[in-house]
Amino acid sequence: MKLRAKFNSMLVVVFGLALGASGYLSYRQLNENARDEVLSNAGVLMETILSARTWAVNEVGPNLRETEEDEEMLMMGIPAYAANKVMEAVSKRYPEYSYREVALNPTNVKHKPVDWEAKIINSFRSDTNKQEEWGVRQTVKGPYLYLARPIQIKQSGCLGCHTTPEKAPPKMVAIYGDNGYGWKLKEIVGAQIVMVPLSVSVANAERMFVTFMTTLVGVFAAVFILLNLMLNSLIISRVSVMANIADEISKGNFEMGEFNEQGSDEVAQLSVSFNRMRRSLVKAMEMFSGQPGA
Ligand code: HEC
Repeated sequence: MKLRAKFNSMLVVVFGLALGASGYLSYRQLNENARDEVLSNAGVLMETILSARTWAVNEVGPNLRETEEDEEMLMMGIPAYAANKVMEAVSKRYPEYSYREVALNPTNVKHKPVDWEAKIINSFRSDTNKQEEWGVRQTVKGPYLYLARPIQIKQSGCLGCHTTPEKAPPKMVAIYGDNGYGWKLKEIVGAQIVMVPLSVSVANAERMFVTFMTTLVGVFAAVFILLNLMLNSLIISRVSVMANIADEISKGNFEMGEFNEQGSDEVAQLSVSFNRMRRSLVKAMEMFSGQPGA
């Protein structure tokens, strides 16, 4: 194998490994960053909605009289209602974000969980220490990240509306019928689920990845070309000339003259020794044959 082939195959292997490793690591890191960013957005949205819920249950509800005639006013005391109102406002600006409060036995039948939501609720029910679950779901609109938290009946205030129809405000029973009763204190009845699209962040991450890899390939290509040019001018072409002269000398042909090499690098040093050796050889030949050689 020629020097250039050896050198280049080693460069290709090293560059290939470096590209593969940095590609793998940066792809993973960029995707993790994208996911963390989306997860943090989902967390902020979840906290916002939770605050609205707490506000409704602690401050609005207690100030409303049950005899309140205005249906809209009564609804304001319902935490789930406050949550949905906040979400309605958020959706105007971020239509692709969604929030659901689902319960295994819901008051509003629209909050009945679908399969995967029910699975999440059940996992919260079987492990009461679990405070959060997140994951990625493929939807028709692309990948979505979901963040879910359990809804536990922590205050007895909740039971005023969720124990029996008799205890609940008549207006509520009139609207929702017999659904969503029988909840118990400390029971995990459902989950809050925020869904945030991943596609924009993933697309950004992929764009960054492509830019990074293209730059890296560009740098490697430039280094490759530069090293080859240097290898050629500093070593290969000079050594080839020397090899040709040595070849001719070995055949007894001293016509080609001396190898003229300037500089102080190793090849130049070699050329000095080479020329000296050539002269010694010429002298030895002259002595040997008794007549002038080259
Ligand atoms: C004033 C009555 C009232 C109080 C108090 C109340 N809720 Fe509700 N809750 C409702 C009504 C009515 C709905 C249905 C709202 C809708 O249509 O979105 C509901 C919905 C829910 C839902 C969504 C699933 C479903 O059943 O439709 C959850 C979860 C929930 N409530 C939990 C709680 C918790 C936890 C508390 C205490 C912090 C609480 N509620 C206090 C009346 C109440």
